[in-house]
Amino acid sequence: MIHPSVSNMASSRLKYLSLGVLVFQTTSLVLTMRYSRTLQGDGPRYLASSAVVVAEFMKIITCLLLVFKEHSYSVRALSSILRQEIAHKPIETLKLAIPSGIYTLQNNLLYVALSNLDAATYQVTYQLKILTTALFSVSMLGRRLGVYQWLSLLILMAGVALVQWPSESPGAPEKEQLSAGSQFVGVAAVLVACFSSGFAGVYFEKILKETKQSVWVRNIQLGIFGLVFGLMGMFAYNGDRVQESGMFQGYNTITWIVVALQALGGLVIAAVIKYADNILKGFATSLSIILSTLISYFWLQDFDPSSVFFMGAVLVIVATFLYGYEGKPSPNPSRA
Ligand code: C5P
Repeated sequence: MIHPSVSNMASSRLKYLSLGVLVFQTTSLVLTMRYSRTLQGDGPRYLASSAVVVAEFMKIITCLLLVFKEHSYSVRALSSILRQEIAHKPIETLKLAIPSGIYTLQNNLLYVALSNLDAATYQVTYQLKILTTALFSVSMLGRRLGVYQWLSLLILMAGVALVQWPSESPGAPEKEQLSAGSQFVGVAAVLVACFSSGFAGVYFEKILKETKQSVWVRNIQLGIFGLVFGLMGMFAYNGDRVQESGMFQGYNTITWIVVALQALGGLVIAAVIKYADNILKGFATSLSIILSTLISYFWLQDFDPSSVFFMGAVLVIVATFLYGYEGKPSPNPSRA
């Protein structure tokens, strides 16, 4: 029999471990993507829609391996759990089509956003998802936030805005002159993505915490729909190019690293949603924005940190601790 405080400690350790891995994953993904851009010449570019499909496929395979491990490497147990939980529960499985479809839409919206906005504006505006996530957590999960937690959310928003304010857009220096119309399309796409991110994340959290099923089985269900929607997207947008040169055209080692980091991201986000929550996930990604900016400063020397940046960084760190500190007295009612 495991003592409750021991299992609490273990789950608290998993919470901080998953948040830490998320900071690492988000930071390395941003840096690898940036590196791949500076490295890549004029050769054929890999298809983003294909990368989405491959990452989804990697997630499913990894989750299958994790469920296999959870059931003591028994093939029979694995196939019976897949039959029981996925094939024999079509309604439960279909519920995952909702967040999966929304995530697919969101990934496309973010592509629209990044084509119409510079990266800095994009990143600041997309941080609004922390607020929409908090609103959905309150309305859909019945989570109660204290005054200090709301305050920490506001401090976080201010901090992220300050951090982003002076920095040059890292990914799109060529987009200097943006028309008002394209700016509007970009901002509209990010705003819709903020709502979809908040809703899909909290919906997944609700399913995860209201049922006993393993997070990895849930992720397989999510991934199956993600794969189907992703394939549909790939053939709709790049069908002719895939038929011409295959879906792996333009792939190189860096592409595979980016795809693997993206797959890892999905898995870590699922773990963070299970062991921590969606709001803390927002704080972790904010911290990683600071970390990647700092690393890019020290490595690439292309960013001159101003006092505004440091003020923003301090605000984000203060907000993170303020939120975590106030998190203890208000119990999580939806926690399984
Ligand atoms: O910006 P946001 O945090 O909403 O992005 C979440 C990303 O994580 C989406 O691209 C989604 O496909 C992915 N995800 C996942 N598995 C989950 C939850 C989210 O792959 N269980």
